Amino acid sequence: MRIAEGPLARSACEPHDGRPDRPRRPTVRRRVPRRRGIVAATCSAHAGVRRADGRGRRVSVVFTPRGVLVVKLAALGVLGLSAGGLGLLVWHARDLEHLGDPLAQPIPFSHKHHVGDDGIDCRYCHTTVETAARAGLPSTGVCLTCHDQLFRDQPMLGTLHRSMAQDRPIAWQRVHVLPDFVYFNHSVHVAKGVACIECHRRVDQMPLTWRASPLQMQWCLACHRDPAPHLRPRSEVFAMDAPRVAPAQAAELARAVHLESPRRMTDCSTCHR
Ligand code: HEC
Ligand code: HEC
Ligand code: HEC
Ligand code: HEC
Ligand code: HEC
Repeated sequence: MRIAEGPLARSACEPHDGRPDRPRRPTVRRRVPRRRGIVAATCSAHAGVRRADGRGRRVSVVFTPRGVLVVKLAALGVLGLSAGGLGLLVWHARDLEHLGDPLAQPIPFSHKHHVGDDGIDCRYCHTTVETAARAGLPSTGVCLTCHDQLFRDQPMLGTLHRSMAQDRPIAWQRVHVLPDFVYFNHSVHVAKGVACIECHRRVDQMPLTWRASPLQMQWCLACHRDPAPHLRPRSEVFAMDAPRVAPAQAAELARAVHLESPRRMTDCSTCHR
């Protein structure tokens, strides 16, 4: 048993000089009974030795050094596991925090009104969704094409007019945020017929925008393993109420857009470049 002979174990034995435990000062003697367990546990040489502290009691041997080590390691293991488990729970909770939870915005912009009621196309505001990795958010000028006149004096739009006057963009809160080490590209998905609703759900019914998909790796992979059932005709990519197409038509769409091989779709370097 190596540990018992190590410096720690020895230092616990040193005051005893290989002789039965003899307290040097009365104060120590008073402390002895309380420390009994520790002395007995760390000093193998004196385990079970009759003590010379005048009381003639036998030191109880609770654990052998090996036993102590096992108990310590087990305790450490339990501690580590529970700390890890707790960390994982917190991490997971944070991750799903905004799922279905509308985010407060500097201006309470409503897709429900602008898309659902007024029928404005996604591309009017998210201008680069077909051509770039990012869909892009509308500049203040885009809002003002209508609100220069419309609801001009609404206090709700004060932030909008201040943004224009000060030439400062509106600080929209990000609803979807992928970690930096993940590569995502809107234009590829749009080009192959993956509709906005596949990932963002019914934005046209959201008074304030919320995240409807978890954006976890497993979620991406679930579709990448078998994307065909998620495809729609190109004309329905921006529609909010287009149903999924029948399996036969989906297979046809998949052939028409020449989908990448399943191997390429699930290759690590596709999303981590
Ligand atoms: C009139 C302009 C306008 C139109 C039209 C519009 N949006 Fe938006 N969209 C915004 C603004 C402004 C934001 C930022 C505020 C917010 O998150 O609600 C936004 C945010 C979003 C977000 C969240 C972005 C983030 O932070 O992750 C998604 C997703 C989105 N829009 C999808 C759509 C889809 C899909 C359509 C079409 C069905 C659409 N939008 C049409 C203006 C518009
Ligand atoms: C395959 C899933 C998927 C589809 C389809 C999709 N999006 Fe997104 N969208 C995402 C992800 C993931 C993000 C977060 C990107 C990031 O953090 O880099 C995002 C972010 C956004 C944003 C925030 C700004 C940005 O570009 O990061 C807007 C706006 C948006 N999407 C609009 C749309 C619109 C409009 C469509 C339909 C034409 C659409 N999205 C289709 C997954 C998708
Ligand atoms: C194409 C015209 C158009 C554009 C562009 C537009 N809006 Fe609107 N907005 C409207 C109309 C129409 C209403 C009234 C909607 C309703 O009540 O159905 C409205 C209403 C609003 C309201 C009042 C609350 C509500 O939702 O009814 C706010 C706030 C608003 N818009 C903010 C914005 C912002 C911010 C932008 C830019 C990202 C923007 N709008 C772009 C047409 C537009
Ligand atoms: C609903 C289905 C679906 C979801 C969800 C989805 N994708 Fe895709 N993805 C596709 C399809 C379909 C393609 C087109 C493949 C092709 O080019 O043939 C694609 C292509 C891509 C490409 C380009 C691949 C290439 O090299 O051509 C990247 C990168 C990508 N997706 C990343 C992501 C990430 C990251 C997520 C999760 C945040 C995600 N995708 C979620 C369906 C999906
Ligand atoms: C279709 C896109 C996609 C592919 C393919 C993909 N990943 Fe990921 N990966 C993601 C996304 C999205 C995240 C971010 C998940 C999150 O934030 O919860 C991620 C996160 C990770 C993480 C961080 C830990 C985690 O789970 O959050 C690691 C490690 C990782 N991926 C490794 C891999 C490896 C190894 C492969 C190849 C076997 C791979 N990924 C293939 C999209 C992908």
